Amino acid sequence: MELRLDGKVALVTGSSRGIGLAIATAFARAGAAVMLSSRKAEALAQAAAELPGRTAWFAANAGDPEATEACVAATVQRLGGLDILVNNAATNPYMGPLMGLDIPRADKTVQVNQRALVTWTQAAWRAAMAERGGVVINLASIGGMSIEPAIGWYNVTKAAVIQLTRQLAAELAPGVRVNALAPGLVKTDMARALWEPNEEAIASHLPLGRLGEPQDVAGAALFLASDAASWITGHTLVVDGGALVGVRRVTG
Ligand SMILES: NC(=O)c1ccc[n+]([C@@H]2O[C@H](COP(=O)([O-])OP(=O)(O)OC[C@H]3O[C@@H](n4cnc5c(N)ncnc54)[C@H](OP(=O)(O)O)[C@@H]3O)[C@@H](O)[C@H]2O)c1
Repeated sequence: MELRLDGKVALVTGSSRGIGLAIATAFARAGAAVMLSSRKAEALAQAAAELPGRTAWFAANAGDPEATEACVAATVQRLGGLDILVNNAATNPYMGPLMGLDIPRADKTVQVNQRALVTWTQAAWRAAMAERGGVVINLASIGGMSIEPAIGWYNVTKAAVIQLTRQLAAELAPGVRVNALAPGLVKTDMARALWEPNEEAIASHLPLGRLGEPQDVAGAALFLASDAASWITGHTLVVDGGALVGVRRVTG
């Protein structure tokens, strides 16, 4: 089955680079009109210029509810609707144990990684999806299913994304399907401090033998957005090269 999104309008947050840009590119190649959004206008304009098909961009901080409303309204106005929302933007301002976490960075992480999923979905629901249905895809992480000392608070918000996905799926059915993606380590700017110093060593422990590329996650997002996933909701799809399988090599 070919995965097509012809005639659909998609909005991807955090889409000027990394996984968000790969998802926006895959959706545009599959025929969707795509709204790109992140904080920096220049990077967005550059990214939008390289995408095929109908695109637009709107600078918005994902954690700002007013900017959220404005971006969703601009999507409907410029692209004619909103069928697919990808809540991809996230932040990780604090690395270290929870005992050292300060309130400003704790709150910022929750605003962007967790609360924003609700405010963007509310805006999309009110502007279009309550009437014509749709698809929401949230970016979780395998960190939300396991323990990693360096990024514990970020991972708590990613565990919340998995639960939010189930809750929203139940509340918005049957018109809107809500699913999540849980990537393992993907070679983007956000995760650079984790993968760059020891890429080969990490890859050698992964069953599929390499770290993720943004395109690996984009393929799974295209599947969830498409009619091929029309009986799937409330699910978190792990895309991690087998990391959670946890193969321990005891021979050769
Ligand atoms: N990379 C990984 O290993 C990995 C693993 C698991 C899950 N994830 C998840 O995958 C998603 C994408 O991550 P990535 O690795 O692709 O990150 P990335 O390469 O750093 O890209 C982040 C994107 O989000 C935008 N952004 C950052 N803060 C924002 C904010 N407050 N409001 C709006 N846009 C914002 C950035 O543009 P501006 O800076 O211009 O705003 C950029 O477009 C995130 O949800 C992340 O948690 C990543």
